[in-house]
Amino acid sequence: MSLVQKIVKQAAATFAGSGFDSAAFEKLSTLMNELKPTDVNMTSDPESVLAKPSERAAPAGYMEILDDSNFTCVIFMLRKGRAIPLHDHPGMHGLCKVLYGSVKITSYDPPEKLNLSKSGFFKAKYRGAETFSADNGCHFVLPTEKNLHTIEGLTNTAFFDILAPPYESYGARGCTYYTEIPKDVVDEELIARGYQDMIESDDIKLLRRSGQPGWFYTSVEDYKGPPVEL
Ligand SMILES: [Fe+2]
Repeated sequence: MSLVQKIVKQAAATFAGSGFDSAAFEKLSTLMNELKPTDVNMTSDPESVLAKPSERAAPAGYMEILDDSNFTCVIFMLRKGRAIPLHDHPGMHGLCKVLYGSVKITSYDPPEKLNLSKSGFFKAKYRGAETFSADNGCHFVLPTEKNLHTIEGLTNTAFFDILAPPYESYGARGCTYYTEIPKDVVDEELIARGYQDMIESDDIKLLRRSGQPGWFYTSVEDYKGPPVEL
């Protein structure tokens, strides 16, 4: 059985119930940590998959491996110097294993209650930026930890991604994009209004809900790795 098939089977078992089973989650990440580009028949720079002279060059692309009702499994490709803008994964778990190249992932914890004001501003805990390469294990997204992130391609990169439960185009689990308001802008505004005591520490950031930036779009590419079934 191919490693990808083993991963898909384990993901199905891990995300079958409604509760969170940390042992099953660890089994899945252990399998994913073994993934190499050759396991998905990716034998050259992912940029060559994205570079289609007949099309406008998308900053990112993805290959769908499996779209199940409990989880999705895709390979994302990102060009060097391009980014997936700040977005969330409402109520979802995510595992991301870099196959090729390296990425910088900047994460935030979501607020306990996402109570957006009309203006769409809210505070989130900044969890820092981490670099993940093919040599590293999985990066994790949890419903209450590091649920919001930006992913930047430090090189041309490809990563294997499992999300559970999947996003919904219509419903409670839509993907929302955000922008971070620079701290100096926030502080200046507070000082100008006489609210110095409201200046937060460096690990609290002010975010604002925004639409999907026009510069970010993806191309859909064919998955050429081993077939999978549930
Ligand atoms: Fe994400």
